[in-house]
Parts: sequence; C-alpha cells; structure tokens
Amino acid sequence: MELQLRDKLGYVPTGRRMKPTNSVYTGLPTTIFEEMSRLAIAHKAVNLGQGFPDVDGPEDIRRKAAEALIEGPNQYPPMMGLMALREAVAANWARFQGVAVDPAGEVLVTSGATEALSDAINALVEPGDEVILIEPLYDCYLPLVKRAGGVPKLVRVTPPEWTLDEAALTAAFSARTKVILLNNPHNPAAKVFTREELRLIADLVIRHDAYVIADEVYEHIVFDDERHVSMLSLEGMRERAVAIGSAGKSFSLTGWKVGYVTAAPALIEPIVKAHQFTTFTTPPDLQKAVAYGLGKEESYFNGLASELQEKRDRLATACGRLGAGVIPCQGTYFLTLDMRPLGLDGDDAAMARRMTVEAGVTAVPVSAFYGSDAPRSFLRLCFSKRDEVLDEAVERMRTWLKSVCQTAA
Ligand SMILES: Cc1ncc(COP(=O)(O)O)c(C=O)c1O
Repeated sequence: MELQLRDKLGYVPTGRRMKPTNSVYTGLPTTIFEEMSRLAIAHKAVNLGQGFPDVDGPEDIRRKAAEALIEGPNQYPPMMGLMALREAVAANWARFQGVAVDPAGEVLVTSGATEALSDAINALVEPGDEVILIEPLYDCYLPLVKRAGGVPKLVRVTPPEWTLDEAALTAAFSARTKVILLNNPHNPAAKVFTREELRLIADLVIRHDAYVIADEVYEHIVFDDERHVSMLSLEGMRERAVAIGSAGKSFSLTGWKVGYVTAAPALIEPIVKAHQFTTFTTPPDLQKAVAYGLGKEESYFNGLASELQEKRDRLATACGRLGAGVIPCQGTYFLTLDMRPLGLDGDDAAMARRMTVEAGVTAVPVSAFYGSDAPRSFLRLCFSKRDEVLDEAVERMRTWLKSVCQTAA
C-alpha cells in the first residue's frame, strides 16, 4: 500500500537509507485525541473528548473582526502585536490582577498560547537545563521542552485529590532548574492551585534562581466565586514569571489562535526574538477584535464563568446519578469521572474506545496526559457544549451502563 502510494507520487526509490529526521518529532504516535475524534466520527458519537466550545463566542467580537478584515489593512501588523491589543492586555492586568504592565515593552501577541509556549520555552531553556513539569501534562509541553534540549523533571498530581506534594516538588528543584512550567487553572485536572501552593512554587523558584512559565489560558474560567491568582501577581515573581493567555479560551474562539505573553523586559526580549522567527505576526483583524473583546464589561467575564459553572453542575450531577465518581472541578471546562464505582476499572484508553463504540459518547482517557505509570480509571469530559448535547451524552451513557454494569442507576 505504502509502496503503491510512493510510486503514484513519483518518489524515486534510492535504495539507500536516508538520514533520520528529528528524533523528538519523528515517530511520535498519533495522539489519543486524534484517535478518539476519528472514532467519534465513525460511530456518530457525542464528542465530549474535544476541548472546545460547540458555540462560537460573542457575535459583536466576531463582527469587529469581519469589519476589520474588509476595512483593512491586511498587511503585516507590528511584530509585537497591534498596540491596541497590547494596551488592552495591559489594562486587563490592572483590572483583574492589580498588576501594572507596560504595553509597549512587556506584552507580546502570538498566534495562540501554543506559539507563546513554544517561544517562551525556546527563549529560556538551554540544552541540559532542567524544566519542571506537573503531570498530568497538556500535550505540547513535553515535546517542546525536549526539542529545546531541556531535561524534563516530572512532578505529579493524581486524582481524585490532585494534591501537590510539597516534598516531591522541593526534591524536583536543583541548581540546574531553569524553569517550572505551571498550568493554572489546570487542564485536565480542573484544579485551581491555592495561594499557598503558588507561594510554595514561587519561593522555590526564587531560591533556585529559576523562572516560571505560567500557562494561564483558563484565567477567566474559575468557579464558585473564586478568582484566578496569576503567578505574575505574587511577590518576587514580576521579574521571574512569564504569563500566557489565550483569546481562544477567554472568548470561546479557539480557532482564532490569538495568544498573549506578559513578562518583564529582560524576559520578554528573547521571547520576542523566538516569535520573530516563528510566526512573526498574527492576523491584524483578529487582534483588533480581541482588543475590543478584552475591553468588555466585567459582566462578560463573570458570565463566561457562571455559564460554564452551570454546565459543569449539569454534567456533574447527571454523571453522579449514573453512579460515576465525580472529581471536583474548580476551573477550566473539563470534568474528570472516576469509573471505578461503576465497576469499570483497568485500561482507561480501552474504556474510552469502548464507550465511543458502544455508548456513542466520546471522552478522553486521563492516562494520556501522563508520561508513564498513569492512573487508569479516569475519563475527561469537556462540558463547554450546548445543554442538549450534554443531556444526550448522559442519556446515551445511562442506556449503555445499564447493559454493561450492575452498579449503574
Ligand atoms: C492548558 C492549555 N494551554 C494551552 C492551550 C493552547 O491554547 P491556544 O489554542 O491559544 O494555542 C490549551 C488549549 O487547549 C490548553 O488547554
């Protein structure tokens, strides 16, 4: 099959072995996310595996982008981002975190938080530097750190408590630690790190003369009247933290890929250089619209969190009634279910495949977010979906569980 394709595409068989391509990326297996999405399509499943809203964000923001696209200009915007957006990002730091930020020298606009993460890691990490990562891991962290030559040091939190072990974290730091990459609020754990945990991290960072890359893309999706506390706002962190945000998450416009980085001049400078030679700029019409969005009333941001909190409660209550263990969710739009109370133990990836095929509901196995030796009975469900979609998923699970296990309601 492969040979036929090669012939068809006109490759000349050299008969010689060719030099290997980069070892970090070559041969990386298809991710479980892709596999589950394909399986979901094949089985017409309700897909709660995909981590994005099924309704687009505010129409007025989208209209701003459409107007800007027609009015132009549509040429390269300034490399660090449109000033209007950088000013809006700085204004948000003052408004939500009480942090004064210089829009001209401390804010960079990127093509999504993913680009920001890549730029920040490439700009801060030298080959051989140790980088502390907290498992479960958002998927791009490990390959990006390895590609930069960093040596990953993994510290884990595990469900159901997701407690950060102080001794393990302290032991992970060494004289070679360059960076700790912290995702808060945390995907997939839906954990919001406490002020004490953040302080512990900050103190270790200062003690070891290290930096924090703070992936805070879910900054506006925190529940139960809690408020996001940015790493950048902690004493001693202003010159050591690189904070990353995403319009995709804050405005339910994940396809736009507009991100922003905030850091002190000495840190942002090399990050800007990495950005310059990665994407250079981000579409100007989207930047204008995001600048407008960031200027919205506080009620918009509170509304985003409260709407998602209702969805969290809708799905959590229904799944609890089915007999699943529901792990507390403090932020993000992900809910973790413990399948053990249903008698479904063992391999969570197999469980997720089976649920897609037999129940017509797709989730993501939590083990996919660990490097090795992962907990195996937890599934992640995304609840930023329309209510009827969530209800349909629950009904399908109910019917399926009745046929496969005794304990299901
Ligand atoms: C923790 C985390 N970081 C970064 C990203 C990527 O954000 P963006 O789409 O802006 O690149 C995501 C998206 O799911 C995420 O969950």
